[in-house]
Amino acid sequence: MSQPVGDIGLIGLAVMGFTVVAYNRTTSKVDAFLANEAKGTKIQGAHSVEELVSKLKRPRKIILLVKAGPAVDDFIRQLEPHLEKGDIIIDGGNSHYPDTIRRSKELESKGLLFVGSGVSGGEEGARYGPSLMPGGSPAAWPAIKEIFQATAAQVNGEPCCDWVGEGGAGHYVKMVHNGIEYGDMQLIAEAYDILKRGLGLHEDEIADIFNNWNKGVLDSFLIEITANILKFKDDDGEPLVPKILDQAGQKGTGKWTAIAALDAGMPVTLIGEAVFARCLSSLKEERIRASKVIAGPQKEAFKGDKKQFIDDLEQALYASKIISYTQGFMLMRQTAKDLGWTLNYAGIARMWRGGCIIKSVFLGDIAAAYQKNSNLESLLFDDFFNKAAHKAQPGWRRIIAQAVLWGIPTPAFSTALAFFDGYRSEVVPANLLQAQRDYFGAHTFRVVPGKENTKLKLGEDIHINWTGRGGNVSASSYSA
Ligand code: 6PG
Repeated sequence: MSQPVGDIGLIGLAVMGFTVVAYNRTTSKVDAFLANEAKGTKIQGAHSVEELVSKLKRPRKIILLVKAGPAVDDFIRQLEPHLEKGDIIIDGGNSHYPDTIRRSKELESKGLLFVGSGVSGGEEGARYGPSLMPGGSPAAWPAIKEIFQATAAQVNGEPCCDWVGEGGAGHYVKMVHNGIEYGDMQLIAEAYDILKRGLGLHEDEIADIFNNWNKGVLDSFLIEITANILKFKDDDGEPLVPKILDQAGQKGTGKWTAIAALDAGMPVTLIGEAVFARCLSSLKEERIRASKVIAGPQKEAFKGDKKQFIDDLEQALYASKIISYTQGFMLMRQTAKDLGWTLNYAGIARMWRGGCIIKSVFLGDIAAAYQKNSNLESLLFDDFFNKAAHKAQPGWRRIIAQAVLWGIPTPAFSTALAFFDGYRSEVVPANLLQAQRDYFGAHTFRVVPGKENTKLKLGEDIHINWTGRGGNVSASSYSA
């Protein structure tokens, strides 16, 4: 066998730089890849895992770009016997982070290194550089840093890639990225619905609005592609979008984020609503039946100032986006605390500035906020975002109020505003919830400091005999 030449091995076929040795389970795909996409490049092929490993320089670095789930474990098992101490397996799929934590531990115990890397960017990312979010065995980072940072998209000369943290941190951050992607998409869809069903605009007019928004605070990949999508015509010259069945698919990463939020006890409501909106969309047959028997409000033509309304909608979208990212970063902060990760929030925002689906100018502002204060409790405490949310507030409220009157659902816009109003409330009605819990189940409550008396003692779990019938036995654990 000749001298190893490969800097990195690739399992599953995608596009990369450097001397790549590529292997695919269906070996005819390797040959087709070498004859086409990889023609004239330094990319080499391998027809077996063994050959792949033999062609790589040490420490060997092998990226798996295969479907998340059992296929990852399967390839790890195939690779293991051929690898030596210090070799690195990198999983570049959308793996669920608990799997990545498990795989890191297992491989580290065998002297191998494991990296679970978030990779975002779709086809465009593959061509012009993706956003890469690697995490896992820290010892692997120096060995892969150069290749990763050179392969990633660059923004202002900075790579959209940095070390995220230990264990499953990279895949966790990619999961939150995807959840935020769901949220951004849902917000855009709601804005489209308001413009279409509310104002009665044509797709071309809506595309122009999105194109304008793309020059301001909403400047982002998703706004840009939405304008292009709305302009796209079918062969009959009509916009294609209304011909697409309104049932959204999902592969599960948004759902994972919502579940992670529930597990962490963090109110990541916008991503949750975005996932549920996809679920509701998929109940198509049932919605058709419901539409025949459930009437909404009488449709009234819009009589206000259209220009003002469209500006308000831009602000509503912007403010809701601020809330969504606020929630996403709160979730990452809580999980980092729970799992003992040290996450660099400015770095994460920088990784998302380019290459990925949620790339935007806005992420530069988030990076700046965390750069100023890495301990920021939430983005709403940052001056820039605090002012932006205040400025957006009147328009944001007007849009939601109008949508409610029209009967147009805005789950993402509305939950964002509800979070904003809840978060800024010194007092929320959880006092009444506590009273109810104590009334029906003796679950106890605590007293507001300053309101204590002989019965209501500060810091104690109190149970009141609300009806005069119950006993004095209270449930044992107090949970705030
Ligand atoms: C990316 C995307 C990608 C994701 C798709 C589809 O960052 O490139 O997040 O990883 O799989 O967007 O996701 P759904 O099928 O769940 O919408």
